[in-house]
Amino acid sequence: MPATPASRYRIDGGQPVSGRIRGLGAKNFATKAMVAALLAEGKTTLLNAPRIGDVDITCELLAAAGAKLAWPSEGVLEIDASALASADVPVPDSGSNRIPILLLGVLLHRLGAAHVPVVSGCNIGARPVDFHLDAARLFGADIEIAKDGYRARRHGPLNACHYRLPYPSVGATESCLFLGVLARGTSIIENVATEPEIIALITLLNAMGARIQLRPNRELVIEGVDRLYATTFEVLGDRIEAASWAALAAATDGDITVDGIDPATLINFFGPFNAVGGGVSIEGPRSIRFFRRRPLKSIVLETDVFPGFATDWQQPFAVMLTQASGTSIIHETVYERRFDYLEALAALGARTQIETHCLGSVACRFRGRDFPHSAIIQGPTKLRSEGLSLEVPDLRAGLAYVMAAALAEGETTITGVPRVERGYGALAERTRGLTLRLATA
Ligand code: EPU
Repeated sequence: MPATPASRYRIDGGQPVSGRIRGLGAKNFATKAMVAALLAEGKTTLLNAPRIGDVDITCELLAAAGAKLAWPSEGVLEIDASALASADVPVPDSGSNRIPILLLGVLLHRLGAAHVPVVSGCNIGARPVDFHLDAARLFGADIEIAKDGYRARRHGPLNACHYRLPYPSVGATESCLFLGVLARGTSIIENVATEPEIIALITLLNAMGARIQLRPNRELVIEGVDRLYATTFEVLGDRIEAASWAALAAATDGDITVDGIDPATLINFFGPFNAVGGGVSIEGPRSIRFFRRRPLKSIVLETDVFPGFATDWQQPFAVMLTQASGTSIIHETVYERRFDYLEALAALGARTQIETHCLGSVACRFRGRDFPHSAIIQGPTKLRSEGLSLEVPDLRAGLAYVMAAALAEGETTITGVPRVERGYGALAERTRGLTLRLATA
């Protein structure tokens, strides 16, 4: 990380972006693996741990609970959770982060209580935590909802339960895993999320001595055990970041190779990417080259839980679609409000429209609820910036702004950079191997 974190980027765009970049370890697994480490009384070692804002925030939360953390070398994070002492989870400095609620189950097991602040995630929808709290109650926790957060307590060990998640929520699935692994008896959790980061978390917990089976039809069977053991585990590559570089290469007619990413985690990205006109070449076991194979053309696309097209892929994809000929449609079915960033693209010249109807093949949870969750993008449009300044609203939109600025002829200033660096690390340093003209201030 740089000594002084950047607060703004200045991007001089309008040229193809080519080169090579080392992908980060996945933020949305690394932070959960760190929480999992608290379940074992010993030293867990994470390899390929990304040095990003969200990991730093999670380090602070774990340290406040009494864990000892160290980075003995680049990408290696050690977490010693032998002596936990505090059940009070502080409010993260960033003010928004999804990790505190995941600490509820873990601290309940280890300390018998957990006090978790109410914090939001990125600014993309209401993001309630009702499934997490319902699950904890079913496992036997008493939960009091106070002004400053959730106060949970257990009287004796937590007991196994049968819970059907109302929606395959990633975070609530993780909460159920944390609650179930050390509960007494066998839990059945239905309708769970199966994202690659969840599969990695199940693998990690099983490597720590848990007995979790993922059955067909989104069902988890968790046989509670008495204790878990610390282990060493490698963080998988970040499929969201990799997809963003892919979209940037195709959008600018450049050529970008991403190292450190397993192609299997991009399985349902490749299809739509190819359909638009992107090209993919697998260069090695964890190395993928992305480029534009032919002139880009429009697509109709729906985001969904895994194995669907990830909601976190839609922003970089939308930027690419501004360069595709025809009318593209994106129906966002995971979050009710994830298109605010299109306004900034419009300021650069993109032709976009947001609709509250379900403009996809399925009627989603947001049907008839007046949420702006479908987008229409007309292309191709030449993006231009005459010294425009864009304020980053959330992490994924932030990288989409970087992409749009790279596409746009002229100079664009991007502010609110810490929101981007929470998930992507020091971008100026990391993109040195690319022809992206990005300077920090
Ligand atoms: N939901 C509820 N109640 C709950 C939990 C979720 O209604 O108790 C709803 C949410 O409001 C949302 C949907 O379920 O509409 C899906 O939310 P989910 O719980 O799956 O999301 P999350 O666990 O909070 C993680 C990632 C997100 C990613 C989503 C979906 C982390 C830290 N965040 O969030 O990533 O978009 O899963 O894949 O893992 C990002 O990295 O920028 C990001 C937003």
